[in-house]
Parts: sequence; C-alpha cells; structure tokens
Amino acid sequence: MWFRLAALAALFLATSQASASASASASKKQPNILFILTDDQDWHMESLQHMPLLQKHLLHEGTLYANHYCTVALCCPSRVNLWTGKAAHNTNVTDVWAPYGGYPKVVREGINDDYLPHWLQAAGYNTYYSGKLWNHHSVENYNQPYAGGFNGSDFVLDPYTYQYRNATMSRNGGRPVSYAGQYSPDVTAAKAHGFLREAMAHDDPWFLVHAPIAPHSSVRLVPDVVMDKPEYADRHAHLFHDYIIPRDDNFNPETQGGVSWVKDLPRLNDTVIRYNDEFQRSRLRALQSVDESVEHMVRILDEAGELENTYIFYTTDNGYHISQHRMHPGKECGFETDVHIPLIVRGPGVSAGHVSKAVTAHTDIASTIMTLAGHALPEDASDGYPLPLTVEEMQASKQEHVTIEYWGLAIPEGIYGAYGDAGMIDPGYGSQPSIAVGNNTYKAVRVIGEGYSLYYAVWCTNETELYNLKTDPGELRNLLAPEHYVNDLHVAGRPVDVDQLARRLDALTMVLKSCRGRSCVEPWSALHPSGDVQGLLDSLDERFDDFYQNQPRVSFTDCKLGYLPEYEGPMDVRPFDGMDHAASGADWGGREQVTLGRNRGHWSIWT
Ligand SMILES: *[C@@H]1O[C@H](CO)[C@@H](O)[C@H](O)[C@H]1NC(C)=O
Ligand SMILES: *[C@@H]1O[C@H](CO)[C@@H](O)[C@H](O)[C@H]1NC(C)=O
Ligand SMILES: *[C@@H]1O[C@H](CO)[C@@H](O)[C@H](O)[C@H]1NC(C)=O
Ligand SMILES: *[C@@H]1O[C@H](CO)[C@@H](O)[C@H](O)[C@H]1NC(C)=O
Ligand SMILES: *[C@@H]1O[C@H](CO)[C@@H](O)[C@H](O)[C@H]1NC(C)=O
Ligand SMILES: *[C@@H]1O[C@H](CO)[C@@H](O)[C@H](O)[C@H]1NC(C)=O
Repeated sequence: MWFRLAALAALFLATSQASASASASASKKQPNILFILTDDQDWHMESLQHMPLLQKHLLHEGTLYANHYCTVALCCPSRVNLWTGKAAHNTNVTDVWAPYGGYPKVVREGINDDYLPHWLQAAGYNTYYSGKLWNHHSVENYNQPYAGGFNGSDFVLDPYTYQYRNATMSRNGGRPVSYAGQYSPDVTAAKAHGFLREAMAHDDPWFLVHAPIAPHSSVRLVPDVVMDKPEYADRHAHLFHDYIIPRDDNFNPETQGGVSWVKDLPRLNDTVIRYNDEFQRSRLRALQSVDESVEHMVRILDEAGELENTYIFYTTDNGYHISQHRMHPGKECGFETDVHIPLIVRGPGVSAGHVSKAVTAHTDIASTIMTLAGHALPEDASDGYPLPLTVEEMQASKQEHVTIEYWGLAIPEGIYGAYGDAGMIDPGYGSQPSIAVGNNTYKAVRVIGEGYSLYYAVWCTNETELYNLKTDPGELRNLLAPEHYVNDLHVAGRPVDVDQLARRLDALTMVLKSCRGRSCVEPWSALHPSGDVQGLLDSLDERFDDFYQNQPRVSFTDCKLGYLPEYEGPMDVRPFDGMDHAASGADWGGREQVTLGRNRGHWSIWT
C-alpha cells in the first residue's frame, strides 16, 4: 500500500526543489509562463499529429500529459476551472450564458477580482492576455467592469467572438475595434507576439496567454443561429484533403451506447458523415495558424535569450466529438472525446520528448503555475494539486481520479446538428440558442491506474453508466445496462463484481460532487478517515462490501440547467468507522431491505 500524503509531500518538495534549482541556474528571476489555450481542440481525432511545429517545439522539447482532463466540457465553465483551480461546483460558473455562466456570472461570483492573473501580479508578475477570455464577454459589458488581472490585454468580444473574419476586440479596456477581413487566430497571435516583446522589455517575470478561437466552430447569428465549420486562412486551404476522422469503433456505431438523450440518437447518414469529415479538416486547417504562432513565439523567446527561463503550456478548454456515438459536432459530454484533452508543458526541469501517464486535470493548472512562481497556493485555496513535472515526480504520482461534472444542455453543432430531428428541444430560455438537447446534467468520475481505466456517471434522470476503457475504449458497452452486464470484469487483474465496483465509484462520485480543497485531492479519506483506503483498489476489499452497499447513492430529483443542490440528492457519505460490518445491514434511503445485524445501534446514528 502506498501513502498518498507522503507521496504528495515528496512531490511538493521535489517540485519546489526542481523549479528552484532550475530557475537559479537559468536566471535569478522567477520563470516566465507562456500559456497557449485553444478552443475545443480534440485529442481523439489526431489534431496534435497534424501540428508539425508544435511537435517540433513542444512535444519533442517537453512533456505530453497523456492522461489530462478537463472537468467540465464547456468553454466558460472549463476556463473558470482552469484559471481558479476550483471545481465547477465551487465556482458555480456552469454555463456559457446567463443565468448560470458567462462573464456576468464570473463577475457576480467575485472571480474577476480573485483568480490566477491577480495572484501572479501579487507574486511580482506582469500579466498579458490576447484572445478569448470568457463567453458572454461582449461589446456591451466589456467595461462593466473591465476584466481584471492583466497589465496588457486584447480580448475578442461577443457577439463577434466566433466570426473568424470579424474579430472585434477591446485593447486595454479601449472601445471595441473590428478587424473585419483579417483571420482572427492570426490577429490574436500577432497581438500575443506584441505582448511578448512588451513583457520582455521589463525586468519582471511575466505570464502571457494566447487564447485563439481556433478550432471552435464559426457561429452565424442571423437569420438563425448556425454553428458551422470553422474558417481557415487561405494559405492553409490546400491541406488535409485526404484526411478523414478515424473510424474508431465508436464512430457512428451500428449499436449505440450511452444513456439519456444519447442513446436515442439515430445513425448519421452519408451526407452528414461527408460534412463531418470536412468539418474536422477545417478544424485542422484552423489550427495551422496556431501551429505557426507556436514557432513564432519560441523564436522570439530564443532570440531574446528567455527560452530557458520560460515554461510553455499548451492546452485547450475542452475536447470535441464529431460523429462518435452518432453525435453531430459538439462537446458537453463526459465521453473521452470531450473530456480527455491535450496538455503539453515545456520548460526548465521538464523532461523533453516524454509522455506522462500521470492523471491530471485542469483543476491542477493554477496551483502548478503558482508553485512555479514560487508562491504555492495554500492547501485549501485549490481543489487540485501541482502537476508532476519531472519523470521522478510523474512516477511518484498516485493520483487516479478526475472529477467530471456538467449542468445544462448539449448543443449539436454543424448545419445538420442545428436542424436535425434527434431529441431537439427548445429550452425556451433567454439567450440560449434554441437548438439544444436537455437532460444533459450529470456527475461522473474517471479513474485510471495500473491495470484499470474506468468511467462512471450518474445522470439527472438517475440513469447510470460504467465503462471499462481497458476493454472498451470507445465507451460503447455500459456495464450497468442489462444487455452488457459481464461477470468476468477484472480490475488490475483481480475479478470484480460489476455492482460492487459501481458502489465504490458511486461513493467516490458522492464525495467529489461536493468536495472542496483537500477532499477533492484525497476523496477516499472522506470515506475511510483512518487512512487505510487510499485508492480504488484498496476500497475493493470485500470486507467493505456492506459498507459500500449501504452508502446513500448519487441521484437527482430533476434535471436542472444549473447548480441547484436541492435537486441533486444526498451530498454526504457515511465514513467507515473501522468496525467489521460484514454481518450488518441497513435500510438506507428506502433502497435496500436487508436484515439488521448486531451493529444496528451503531448504524442508527447515521440515519
Ligand atoms: C502590472 O500590474 C500590477 C498590478 O496593477 C502593477 O503592480 C505592476 O506595476 C504592473 N506592471 C507594469 C510593468 O506596469
Ligand atoms: C463586424 O463587427 C462590427 C463590430 O465590430 C459590426 O458592426 C459589423 O456589423 C460586423 N460585420 C459583420 C459582417 O458581421
Ligand atoms: C441526412 O440527414 C440529414 C440530417 O438529419 C438530413 O437533413 C438529410 O436530408 C439526410 N440526407 C439523406 C440523403 O437522407
Ligand atoms: C428528460 O428525461 C425525462 C425522464 O426520462 C423525460 O421524461 C423528458 O422527456 C426528458 N426531457 C428532455 C427534454 O429530453
Ligand atoms: C432518482 O432517485 C431518487 C432516489 O431514489 C428519487 O428520489 C428521485 O425521484 C429519482 N429522480 C428521478 C428524476 O427519477
Ligand atoms: C449557483 O448559481 C445559481 C444562479 O445564480 C443559483 O441559483 C444557485 O443557487 C447557485 N448555487 C449555489 C450552490 O450557490
């Protein structure tokens, strides 16, 4: 058995030593941070393989985090998670629009005055941002108040954010300016390059974000809201004509998996598939502008002699699906396509050309950056923990879980998605496009370790999903659906009963859906305060079967579009008290009728 606390302590120590010695040798000042954040970039449709300059400068010179996840597969909530280090249920920014998300909600929750760029300024950094910051950050509200935390900024603003040839931007709070006719990712890149030179003109360390809109779909607002293929620069029009989306087993499958609205989707026809392949080709072309910018920025840094004292992060806000699970282009799901995303880090002490298997999430990024800045966040200020950066730290990392959560709607993109006939509803609310699918609120957990790879979800309809990605990477066989039930499931080589496994994962999800600080990083300690269970494998010991059988279950009483805990069922687990409850049973929440044993008096204190 390993000990999480000891491992974490070693990791913190190693991280601070590594960065301290690395920065001491390169320069006396704190390291610079260059952060490139794309919009809706996929891992599973080979986008990284089609970015040769990114491969040359970041993949070959840095580490690829092969098990990196966003925790909420939608732009604005994910960006808030990223820039605060807090789980979405703790930011309560859960959507792109009012009332549950967007820039006004960011302001209302106090985040505009209290997030990473402010913390970095307090740590002595100059901070810069070019591109898309939040959704619903618009030509109308950009100055009410101004987005906080940056020494230099140039933000693309709604409602023009996803117009690839009419970026409308506010520079340092100035009146919005239209860049009609120019290609938006090129415009934001040029501004980022300018900020880079500006940043290097000062002695202070700096933090610079380039957040281009590529490869997000382009959005036309009139006469109807249509989310179409992204546009690309003319110089990239000749590329990728032979590309097609990988025909993995979950590509427009004959037998559909999933629950809720997903399970009823009809198969896509050839017209849609042809459109979808071109959709992804357009995304790959749109990313070429970003690819060129990566090389450009590396060159500027190199020429200024700053490359060796700069960490470069490359990631995206959430993943993307196109045709997988018969879905039109889009995100918002808990499938790997949507939550498993690229993260590459290059910088002092980070292994070159390495692929890390450590399990990491966007929640971890803010505390990673603050640790690199020499101002580690206090334990309870973040729901994540610093990324392992050296090979030794990666090998020592025992993190196995990622919290996944979502509230609200799924929006099928593409011209067929918007007008398809599958499960469309008019949510009839506010500014939301009326092309969305309801019942898309769920809580989930992704668990990955040596010999196991699982995804468990509970939806607001109370439907549950469990996928064994070791044998079913496409997530097509929900082991909790009667037709897929198996009795030879193995977890790390050990035979495991599907229901017993689901109970563990449900209890873990219960902890994670309302966790805060430490309990998000070490959720098993909420269930086993004595510390003898620190991971899924420990919990599978059969002496805990009754204990897990008798936990309250994650459930919902209704599908709501935001975080309204009163509809989200029980919130707390019952901790294990160290006694052997094997002979006992209980009647929790009216679900189980089992004989009460000798521990009745004890159990009753929880009822
Ligand atoms: C950047 O902004 C911070 C916070 O307002 C300020 O302390 C710092 O002096 C600024 N840096 C420059 C170069 O103006
Ligand atoms: C381009 O953006 C400007 C605002 O910056 C707007 O007035 C104009 O109508 C937009 N053009 C198009 C074609 O949407
Ligand atoms: C294919 O599906 C789309 C979307 O449902 C529909 O609009 C189109 O008419 C279909 N095409 C054919 C040839 O059936
Ligand atoms: C949501 O799920 C409920 C229960 O399964 C169903 O009755 C309802 O029609 C669904 N709503 C939508 C918008 O799909
Ligand atoms: C889900 O299950 C809980 C607990 O059994 C129940 O109270 C609730 O009504 C169910 N919700 C739905 C949407 O059926
Ligand atoms: C989250 O925000 C919504 C909208 O403002 C609000 O109704 C809800 O009560 C909030 N949830 C929590 C847990 O604070």
